[in-house]
Amino acid sequence: MSAQLINDVKSIFIDTFKTYPLLIFSPGRINIIGEHTDYNDGFVFPAAVDKGIYAAIQKTGGNISTAYALDMDSKIEFDLEKLKPSKEGSWENYVFGVVAEIQNRNKIVGNFNIVFKGDIPGGAGMSSSAALENSVVFGLNELFNLGLSKHDMILISQKAEHNYVGVNCGIMDQYASMFGIEDHALLLDCRTVESKPYKIDFKDHQLMLINTNVKHSLSDSAYNDRRSACESISTLLDIKALRDATEADLETVKDKVTPSNYQKALYVIQENNRTKKASKAMKKNDLHTLGALIYDSHDGLSNQYKVSCVELDFLVDQAKTNKQVLGARMMGGGFGGCTINLVHKDHAESFAEQASKAYLKHFNKACSVYFIKLSEGTHIVK
Ligand code: GLA
Repeated sequence: MSAQLINDVKSIFIDTFKTYPLLIFSPGRINIIGEHTDYNDGFVFPAAVDKGIYAAIQKTGGNISTAYALDMDSKIEFDLEKLKPSKEGSWENYVFGVVAEIQNRNKIVGNFNIVFKGDIPGGAGMSSSAALENSVVFGLNELFNLGLSKHDMILISQKAEHNYVGVNCGIMDQYASMFGIEDHALLLDCRTVESKPYKIDFKDHQLMLINTNVKHSLSDSAYNDRRSACESISTLLDIKALRDATEADLETVKDKVTPSNYQKALYVIQENNRTKKASKAMKKNDLHTLGALIYDSHDGLSNQYKVSCVELDFLVDQAKTNKQVLGARMMGGGFGGCTINLVHKDHAESFAEQASKAYLKHFNKACSVYFIKLSEGTHIVK
């Protein structure tokens, strides 16, 4: 967490609104494995990181609320009684959506001001959006004594994303951001919404992210399409979600679905199994098995689920040429953002350099490397 950024939002809040704010840090997340399994009631393996959203928030006596996105230098005033989604892609939908979903639960939110800033770029696949939603709901819960549990809060954040942002996301991002534990990843069962913490100490190895710095515009609609395809196959199989299916079950409806949807469902079933295997490998500190599962995950995301892109595939191929990288894959929704790499500590810098040079040469644009620390979930900063 950056002390500088929390000070920035604090001092700008005080300058703008002449009162002292409540300060909140809400982290982004990584995901070791288990991609596009969350909305299939499956398993995921995320962790909160030391980068995210820094928010300063306070009640106001006026009859208007204000949200100020410092990164975009964009300020918006709004009336709590007249909330509706702004045009697609607008940052304020994350704020409005959270407030509206709180109101939908018959809780009363008064007027407030918020200033926020982040240190993960949007579209990096590190859930800056969930971090923002969580910071808003967490702050409002505190200021207006709403009595919401952390579980209530993440469901509100998720609904905001569905109804105001227009992405029918699963629960992984909001969960990881809210419930993160320092130095741990969480094996989350997305059906029960309960997780088991795993201490992450890969001895000689570490996790490293490389951001392609691309976000393809089709990503939101493609995401929703994938989710619908999974749901329609579950309906065909007469099960609640693909988590309940085996590969053999899927075979029984093979001739009733398109080849491309068959591959997508197969991917989900296999990825869910990989995630369970990965947790076992991690327990034994069997990093070679873990790495191989991570590579297989990418393979499935790219060739079966079709949510990768040339830039992500390129970075994973770079990893495969380097013996010091045990596993690499795209992370998050896809179509851009980061790869996550399991790499030997002594060779992380040289791999970062190798991949960056090759990427620049191939695409004539730069990628960015992030070394991350696993951190505590959404919390108040004293
Ligand atoms: C996005 C969504 C998550 C999850 C991932 C893919 O980050 O918000 O719910 O589905 O994509 O694993």
